Amino acid sequence: MTKLKVGILGATGSVGQRFVQLLENHPWFELGALFASERSAGRKYREVAKWFLPSEIPAEAAEMRVQSLNDIGTGTNTQANEEIAIIFSALPGEIASKVEKRCAQSGYAVSSNVAVHRMEKDVPLIIPEINADHLALIEAQKLRRGWDGFIITNPNCSAIAMTLSLKPLMRYGIKSVHVSTMQAVSGAGYAGLPSMAILDNVIPFIGREEDKMESEPLKILGTMESVGSGSKIEIKNAAFTICSSCHRVPVLDGHTEAVWVNFEEGTGVSVEAVKEAFAEFTSDIKTPFAPAKPIIVCNEPDRPQPRLDRDAGRGMSISVGRIRAGRMKNEIKYIVQGHNTIRGAAGASILNAEVLVEKGYISNK
Ligand SMILES: NC(=O)c1ccc[n+]([C@@H]2O[C@H](COP(=O)([O-])OP(=O)(O)OC[C@H]3O[C@@H](n4cnc5c(N)ncnc54)[C@H](OP(=O)(O)O)[C@@H]3O)[C@@H](O)[C@H]2O)c1
Repeated sequence: MTKLKVGILGATGSVGQRFVQLLENHPWFELGALFASERSAGRKYREVAKWFLPSEIPAEAAEMRVQSLNDIGTGTNTQANEEIAIIFSALPGEIASKVEKRCAQSGYAVSSNVAVHRMEKDVPLIIPEINADHLALIEAQKLRRGWDGFIITNPNCSAIAMTLSLKPLMRYGIKSVHVSTMQAVSGAGYAGLPSMAILDNVIPFIGREEDKMESEPLKILGTMESVGSGSKIEIKNAAFTICSSCHRVPVLDGHTEAVWVNFEEGTGVSVEAVKEAFAEFTSDIKTPFAPAKPIIVCNEPDRPQPRLDRDAGRGMSISVGRIRAGRMKNEIKYIVQGHNTIRGAAGASILNAEVLVEKGYISNK
């Protein structure tokens, strides 16, 4: 199998550097190009990558010259950039929208971390273990927009962990979900929060995070439906409500979430049934980044914890624990924890790209 060349937009940031790290020795993909702002363009990657220790920078990236966003999808692509098959995007929202669309229009497959296109009707928002079938939207997207390429997205870093945990509980008829997050500082990017603001502190506000937590899971857990004469498809959102409160805490990596799920009457839900549903959850996605067990159940009373559990399944598994009855009738509460820049960002995007290859949306022959 020939390795596919990939490019990373925002390669110098918190998520971008995680892409570079995770793609080292990837069996299907190899680094083709790194892009960042004009501040970094033209400089060697090792000079501008701030999160890595110099010795941790993969050799294939260290000496690469970072390119300007103007070097991709603008009609003046170099031969090397023409050879890129997949673009991973980890740019801030405003700039991402313009560049991702430009890349998709000029034929690239874009696998994006960014929120800006996630809720658009023809853009797949994917957790492959749950809704790989939603990739069928790609054809509609290309047709409607007249693009040779396309955009797919992965969910918000907190939404991804909670949504994975909700999937096996759907069989018990979810009525409503309440969630309170404790989110790591790497989720805010390198320049995100001054140390004087976050050390010894909790910030009870993360811009637009609660909207994402309350909308994205419903699209992912939704079903594909035919509309009109039957040739058109769209996602019908899952029919329950989510109420969230999101907080930044002084943890480096790994988001922890306290979740309360209220179930419909008479569906037989119990603490034991929920534990079993989590433990039994498997997936038929077997690509290189797919974790053997997407959900790990912690039995210790004080787990999961970010320091102990964020690297479960090489950072691609989520961990659940403290599964117990709530105060309301038919209510179960638990804690879920996931690595925000791996399962919640770069790793999720790489897994999505692998599934694109496996399902034939990108050819690697
Ligand atoms: N961090 C997480 O846990 C996480 C999880 C899921 C999704 N996301 C999303 O992923 C994206 C990146 O987040 P991050 O945390 O990695 O941010 P970050 O650490 O601030 O990195 C931002 C990246 O974008 C580049 N950039 C910034 N402004 C630019 C401009 N005007 N033109 C071109 N490049 C520009 C930066 O390049 P320079 O270094 O040259 O400035 C850097 O490479 C965001 O949309 C975020 O919402 C983040």
